[in-house]
Amino acid sequence: MTTTRVLTGITTSGTPHLGNYVGAIRPTVRASRLAGVESFYFLADYHALIKVGDPARVQRSTLEIAATWLACGLDPEHVTFYRQSDVPEIPELTWFLTCVTGKGVLNRAHAYKASVDKNTAAGEDPDAGVTAGLFMYPVLMGADILMFNAHQVPVGRDQIQHIEMARDMAASFNHLYGEHFTPPQAVIEEHVATLPGLDGRKMSKSYDNTIPLFTPPAQLRKLIMGIVTDSKAPGEPKSTEGSALFQLYQAFANAEETAEFAQAYAQGIAWGEAKQQVFERLDQEIAPMREVYEQLMTDPSAIEATLKRGADKARAIATPFMAQLRHAVGLRALDKTDKKQKSTVKSESATFKQYRADNGQFCFKLVDAKGGVLLQSTAFSDPKAAANAIALLREHGKSALKTLENQLEPIPNIEAVLTALSDLNKPSA
Ligand code: TRP
Repeated sequence: MTTTRVLTGITTSGTPHLGNYVGAIRPTVRASRLAGVESFYFLADYHALIKVGDPARVQRSTLEIAATWLACGLDPEHVTFYRQSDVPEIPELTWFLTCVTGKGVLNRAHAYKASVDKNTAAGEDPDAGVTAGLFMYPVLMGADILMFNAHQVPVGRDQIQHIEMARDMAASFNHLYGEHFTPPQAVIEEHVATLPGLDGRKMSKSYDNTIPLFTPPAQLRKLIMGIVTDSKAPGEPKSTEGSALFQLYQAFANAEETAEFAQAYAQGIAWGEAKQQVFERLDQEIAPMREVYEQLMTDPSAIEATLKRGADKARAIATPFMAQLRHAVGLRALDKTDKKQKSTVKSESATFKQYRADNGQFCFKLVDAKGGVLLQSTAFSDPKAAANAIALLREHGKSALKTLENQLEPIPNIEAVLTALSDLNKPSA
């Protein structure tokens, strides 16, 4: 049986809000309960240092977020739940990945580019106020993911680019040093795109429009009452399209409830009444978790102990893997020669490269050590299908070539392809 490794992190820079819950915590906790899934949840406190210069806030936020995930049903016995800064292998891997990441790729990262664009518009130096930490953010995130060879990463849409970058890092590293990393996939819960905030824009700390997940009920109600709506009077039919309130409801309700709420909109429900319904529906889901949260917040040492156990589990994977990677890149003891080395220099063998064509479709090719193309796929509509085809070729060689006939360009040198595939199948160091 194959297990899928799912991993996600939350930056410990604030208090968890409904957007975090709907977009990351809830889907990930649910996914962790599925059979055949191995989950990794972590508190991204190194990431927090990029944005937060207030130590007390980093600590407070770490506690709040840990308590939140536990209150939302995370079972630390069943999953690996840890704090990023308890795993020193992660910053070490960050450096390895830094050395295979194009600076130009990082120049195009959304968060960095947004700062540059803002500076440019203001007539300032493009990099004014931009730390190297912000610039390197995607590499640290790549290390988080690749350290545990996560297959799936549940994230918000704004993070998709970072996962794509992690895939590129994996491919570049693998190309140079052999197949160590699995390319990760971003997983977006389709029904809940991004949750709107109080002002209708995406709920985000940077817009100051969030609703804290575990705010007391009276405050939750008050905040919901403050959500922007249009000025339609009671009795006037209202449009669900673009209604922040409706989207919020939908994120918590089932299909039936949502249809009823849409009906109420069409029949001209008063905004005050609609807001009351939203509050009640949200609180129904949140109240039991809020109770657990408040309990947990009274005992930080229990949470600390839970995180320490999680770190032990995480390092049981990270420490030996990092040793393997150090060896792979040539950080080796000088007094030991590696007998296996010659036969396993992976950079001399062929590698699969998965990439996105200019038309946006997903392709792969098999290239030899000198970069010559041995095998070229036609286009796949999604990256998973392309990855499956690669897996098939790796596992079944010749017979897979036949199975995949329609998805491969004519093969100029079939013997070279078969040799490369069987070499890839040999166990690595
Ligand atoms: N960048 C993510 C966010 O702001 C947090 C994060 C850090 C993360 N490392 C990660 C998410 C690795 C998923 C995987 O939401």
